[in-house]
Amino acid sequence: MQGIFISMEGPDGSGKSTQIELLKSYLEAKGYDEIIITREPGGTVISEAIREIILNKDYVEMGYMTEALLYASARAQLVSQVIKPALEAGKAVISDRFVDSSAVYQGMARGLGVETAYQINSYAIQGVMPDLTIHMDLPAKVGISRKKKQAELDRMELETLEFHERVAQGYRDLATLNPDRIKSIDATMTIEDIHNKIVKYVEAVLNR
Ligand code: TMP
Repeated sequence: MQGIFISMEGPDGSGKSTQIELLKSYLEAKGYDEIIITREPGGTVISEAIREIILNKDYVEMGYMTEALLYASARAQLVSQVIKPALEAGKAVISDRFVDSSAVYQGMARGLGVETAYQINSYAIQGVMPDLTIHMDLPAKVGISRKKKQAELDRMELETLEFHERVAQGYRDLATLNPDRIKSIDATMTIEDIHNKIVKYVEAVLNR
C-alpha cells in the first residue's frame, strides 16, 4: 500500500484525539494493517523528554526562539525515527499536530513569522509534509474551557485568551492559504458528523 500521512491540527481542546481514534478504525477497515499514531511534541523517547521541557509551566522565562527550536528538535527526532520510515514502508501515519502548529503558534501567535517558522523546521522535516491536514476549527474560549475541565493547564495552555485567539484565527488563515492540503472542519459539530467529514477528505486523498 501507498504510505499516507495525515496531521490533525487545531487549538487546544479542539477534540483531535477522539477523531484520531475514529480515523484509525476507518483506515484499518480500508486495509492499512499498521497505523502509526503519534503526537507532537512527542512520539519518541527523546521527543517526549523535550516535550516535558517545553510544556513545563515553571519555565516562564523561555524565549520564543528557544521554544521554536525545541519544537523543531522534537520534530526532527520524530520524523527520522518514526514518520519517515513508516511512510517508506507504506504505512499510514496520523499525527496529533505537525509543522503547521509551529507556523501558527510560533509563527503567528508568538509573532516570529510564518516564513521563519517553516524555515527553522525545514531541517527537521526533511521534506516530509502531510498528504492531508485536518483543521479542527474551534473558538479559543471553548477550547480552553474544555481543557480546564480535563487537567492542570501546561505552559502553552496558560497563555492569555488573546494568544489563543491568535492561534484560532491563525489556523483559519493558514487553511485559506493552503486550501488543497488543509481542510477546516467546524469542531462544534457532533463527533459523528466531524468523523464523516474527515472520512470524505481522506477518501479524496486515497482516490487521487
Ligand atoms: P498538545 O496539548 O496538543 O499535546 O500540544 C502541546 C502544546 O504545544 C499545544 O499548546 C500546542 C503547542 N505547540 C506549539 O506551540 N508548536 C508546535 O510546533 C507544536 C507541535 C505544539
